[in-house]
Amino acid sequence: MTTPGPTLTTARLTLRPLDEADLDAYATLRFHPDVLPWLAAPPGGGPMEASARILADYATGWRDHGRAPFGVFETASGGHGPMVGYCGLRWLADLGRTDIVWTMHPATQGKGYAPEAARAALDWGFRTLGLDRIGALIRPDNVRSQGVARKIGLALTETLIRPYGERGWWDGRRESWKSAG
Ligand SMILES: CC(C)(COP(=O)(O)OP(=O)(O)OC[C@H]1O[C@@H](n2cnc3c(N)ncnc32)[C@H](O)[C@@H]1OP(=O)(O)O)[C@@H](O)C(=O)NCCC(=O)NCCS
Repeated sequence: MTTPGPTLTTARLTLRPLDEADLDAYATLRFHPDVLPWLAAPPGGGPMEASARILADYATGWRDHGRAPFGVFETASGGHGPMVGYCGLRWLADLGRTDIVWTMHPATQGKGYAPEAARAALDWGFRTLGLDRIGALIRPDNVRSQGVARKIGLALTETLIRPYGERGWWDGRRESWKSAG
């Protein structure tokens, strides 16, 4: 099955929707011991079962809301090499807001990939989807992720209690968005 959704390209990265063929790579990243503790607890079951449910949720996001996280690949690999991360938008029905998520494989962290991917996803959300507001939900102690938010121009405006714990809401607005270009 091909999941509907665009492909975005930056200088170094290609962002495209994930599908079942990406399950192994997604599970490896999502359950990496240096990544897992920073994210909300995954659905039950082992890594493969939980990741399959997450990818099914992403497919639902594309189908019902026209947004879901993309897989991130190095453009130099033709966009078909190893998945270096994921990044993209989600509709949060309980908040009535769209958030942006980003996670990079530890082997590729510290290269500025998350801000580069996030700029592309935000630009697409503001300009193509026409969203007025997109924010990031970040744990108060996740300074690396807060660094990404600052680099792309998001600002901490609220603290929200989510089902999985306390999160800062790093707010972004279309009216003040400076394009990726
Ligand atoms: C947060 C994350 C996405 C940042 O991605 P990235 O591509 O490394 O982003 P950057 O290269 O811009 O690095 C962000 C900051 O983390 C620092 N950093 C990156 N890798 C690091 C490491 N291994 N150890 C310590 N600091 C590190 C960078 O120096 C940078 O600091 P700065 O903002 O002062 O410049 C990535 O660290 C990650 O996936 N972490 C685990 C999952 C996670 O926290 N996801 C976000 C949930 S809200």
